[in-house]
Amino acid sequence: MYLCPPGTIAQLVEQRTENPCVPGSNPGSTTRRPLHEWSFFMPLHQATTWALRPPRLSRFATVLKQSMTQNQNKQNLPSVSLANFLPNSTQSGEVSKSRGFVLCDEAFQTLLPAHNYKELLLKLPVHWIRAGEHCKSIEKAQEVWRWLEASRADRFDTIIIIGGGTVMDLGAFVASTYKRGVKFILIPTTLLGMVDASIGGKNGINFNGVKNSIGSFNKPTDVAVDVEWLKTLPPKELLNGWMELTKHALISNAVLWDDLQNKSPYDESIDWNRIVERGTEIKQHIVDSDFHEQGERKLLNFGHTVGHALESLAAREGQALDHGFAVGIGMIASLYWSAQSVDEISKQNSILEAAVTLKSLLKTNENCDTWNWCIQGRPQQLWHFMLKDKKNQASTVLDIRLLEIGSAEWDCPLTQIDFENIWNRAF
Ligand SMILES: NC(=O)c1ccc[n+]([C@@H]2O[C@H](COP(=O)([O-])OP(=O)(O)OC[C@H]3O[C@@H](n4cnc5c(N)ncnc54)[C@H](O)[C@@H]3O)[C@@H](O)[C@H]2O)c1
Repeated sequence: MYLCPPGTIAQLVEQRTENPCVPGSNPGSTTRRPLHEWSFFMPLHQATTWALRPPRLSRFATVLKQSMTQNQNKQNLPSVSLANFLPNSTQSGEVSKSRGFVLCDEAFQTLLPAHNYKELLLKLPVHWIRAGEHCKSIEKAQEVWRWLEASRADRFDTIIIIGGGTVMDLGAFVASTYKRGVKFILIPTTLLGMVDASIGGKNGINFNGVKNSIGSFNKPTDVAVDVEWLKTLPPKELLNGWMELTKHALISNAVLWDDLQNKSPYDESIDWNRIVERGTEIKQHIVDSDFHEQGERKLLNFGHTVGHALESLAAREGQALDHGFAVGIGMIASLYWSAQSVDEISKQNSILEAAVTLKSLLKTNENCDTWNWCIQGRPQQLWHFMLKDKKNQASTVLDIRLLEIGSAEWDCPLTQIDFENIWNRAF
């Protein structure tokens, strides 16, 4: 059984009594539980691991995958043996062609990694990365390239990336460019990483104050999702991932939205295996139909034009702001925009109800400062960054709008006046 890090318990035991972001609001109804009471502190036999459709499997990944499949649903999962992939030693005695090099979120120097991956961290060369937007930089990429070169990693080797969206975005970018591209495997450790960042082959770093402005499309050799990592994930990171899950549902799956709408990421009844699987399926389906984001894939940017603008502004002002939270704020604005563009009253109402649901998740005691920072009269400043968005064409801001819950359209022109009006109505 995993031990809960003390800091996380302290955050969790705070009870939500009223919402200080809304003076005079009624006491909130959501009560947080200590982490050890959560249902997703599941016994290991329930922590199913699955790997997403690999485009091409390296020998390394194949064995990793076989091992994980064999281990599924067993009470005592043996750790995956990676000895085969250590230099010059394979089970059959031949010289291994693909050695593994691990890039890992440094949080796992102290947190316990998911059971199947302990051995990987012990036996392969590891370069630790401090997670966060700051690691998505050219300086950090250079540091990793230097480490790979010093470790004599060659173009047949495999980089195994363990972490959330930031470590994966950096690692996949480095792997896609080192020696003109080497194989890489993603092992997401955050909810956001599982349902979003690990799927779809996008990687990138931030440049000149603009999010994800340098990067590429390049599929990983394999992705290994294991909800056991969520056991140590702090609640605010669950909320960030929940926002991307919500986005998947709002743009393309009304049934999933019905399910999520009445839940919160802190509910003890959540079946993480099922929810994560549904979330990954939605994203995988969209990506499969439009890998290079010429059309339908743009839907996945719902809430992101404003979200990325908020993140860029936050970086400029030295304000801490998580990607998932920023996307949540962006989705609220986009939901108001969508509601005003839809004729049918019932559709309008359900879209506005979705905005209310998102507000209730974001506007909490814990997030009060972040919420207030985000909404305090800044549409003009945000517009400055929205004009630099990658989806724009001919200086026109093109964004995503819902037609109804579960269906959306892309490339919808948004004017500055419209945006300011929507923002003022939403917040
Ligand atoms: N490439 C894509 O398609 C794509 C899609 C969506 C988001 N993203 C990117 O993902 C990034 C956000 O990712 P994120 O929210 O995972 O952030 P993150 O990688 O910064 O992780 C958030 C925090 O959780 C910690 N953490 C990670 N796993 C943990 C675990 N199992 N237990 C305890 N703590 C853990 C990290 O150390 C970090 O402090 C953004 O930069 C965003 O642009 C990329």
